[in-house]
Amino acid sequence: AKVTFDYSKASKFISDDEVVAMKKIAEDAKEVLVNKSGAGNDFLGWIDLPVDYDKDEFARIKAAAKKIQSDSEVLVVIGIGGSYLGARAAIDFLRHGFYNNVSKEIRKTPEIYYAGNSISPAYLKGLLDVVGDRDFSVNIISKSGTTTEPAIAFRIFKEKLEKKYGKEEAAKRIYATTDKAKGALKNLATEEGYESFVVPDDVGGRFSVLTAVGLLPIAVSGADIDKLMEGAASGREKALNNTFEDNDAVKYAAIRNILLRKGKSIEITANYEPSLHYFGEWWKQLYGESEGKDQKGIFPAAVDLTTDLHSMGQFIQDGSRLMFETVVNIEKTDADIVIQEEADDLDGLNYLAGKDMDFVNKSAMNGTILAHTDGNVPNLMVNVPEQNEFYLGELFYMYEFACGVSGYILGVNPFNQPGVESYKKNMFALLGKPGYEDMTAELQKRL
Ligand code: PA5
Repeated sequence: AKVTFDYSKASKFISDDEVVAMKKIAEDAKEVLVNKSGAGNDFLGWIDLPVDYDKDEFARIKAAAKKIQSDSEVLVVIGIGGSYLGARAAIDFLRHGFYNNVSKEIRKTPEIYYAGNSISPAYLKGLLDVVGDRDFSVNIISKSGTTTEPAIAFRIFKEKLEKKYGKEEAAKRIYATTDKAKGALKNLATEEGYESFVVPDDVGGRFSVLTAVGLLPIAVSGADIDKLMEGAASGREKALNNTFEDNDAVKYAAIRNILLRKGKSIEITANYEPSLHYFGEWWKQLYGESEGKDQKGIFPAAVDLTTDLHSMGQFIQDGSRLMFETVVNIEKTDADIVIQEEADDLDGLNYLAGKDMDFVNKSAMNGTILAHTDGNVPNLMVNVPEQNEFYLGELFYMYEFACGVSGYILGVNPFNQPGVESYKKNMFALLGKPGYEDMTAELQKRL
């Protein structure tokens, strides 16, 4: 079994000729990617990461995770964007659906909360209450080391740690994941003696889930990071070596670009498992930030089904015909519930008696796929055999590789993000940050 991509349900929207034509383009794009001859080629460290990573650091990550598990009831993971979404996607995908809420006996590992992914004081105040007087540690993650959102959250949690444990002990509960040499966070970590982990220079934020950025929080949650890396290595092997017909990553990149070229400018990634919600968020960042530039790209959206069939379902079925849909299908669930017979059948559900809920869920999925296809929404499928570390590793890699190929097919640099700077400049000017003074008055006039 393996993670696979299947576009057979979209055959009425895609001709064989189109696939043949796009195959050549996609294979060329793959060559550019693996030969490192395209735009952004100094950010391709993620390609070999699953087989070529720092083994000593990997061992340190595991040791740090063990220490946090033994001395903390709570881990606060501080980061935003690429320094946040991968860990959250993985922990939600792999661990208990009510991770923070189930008893310690079931969870066995520290509660994990995320901070620094907004500037909301209400959120932070709430989180401080949740942590309360309990033992906790902090993993501050910022490649640049200067991002405002996590920097503010870190200041606040650092103060809480130092108040509780004193400066020296607090420093032993702070784990900094950042650049190996530069940035404010690196300087602070060196100054204060925090244990540090490295975001490699050639791995951009949204491609960093398999570095310490993702691996430390994932390991703290009790998930098996060796298996995750093995899965990613398997995904890499297939993406690099398989021919187009068997290359799910390259095929996915090709098919979505065929659809884009015929006006399908929105891709909706859909799941039927709530635990995949943050996988959708991770995917949105990966594709949105990689492709949405030069006034081009496929707008990535995500829905949780069947939940959103009762809200966004109307639009997907019947609204403006702009989108195609990619279902991430978990083939086999290990949590099932059989629906029981009831004597009086007042709710009319006895026709389902003896059936398991996954059968109902899959029937909803299959029915929806056909309905959306009839509504002219081409359907693509990514099949995941089971929700475990190995297949998540394959999935992460398949999507990352496909993203690089797809970006080159589109003709953009998939590895930069010039557009994310604009809001920062304005915010800094409005906050009066030194160096932005000349913009301040002009912006204030416009408000
Ligand atoms: O993908 C990206 O580059 C961004 O989403 C960054 O990860 C995000 O802005 C956080 O940056 P940093 O890790 O430097 O704090």
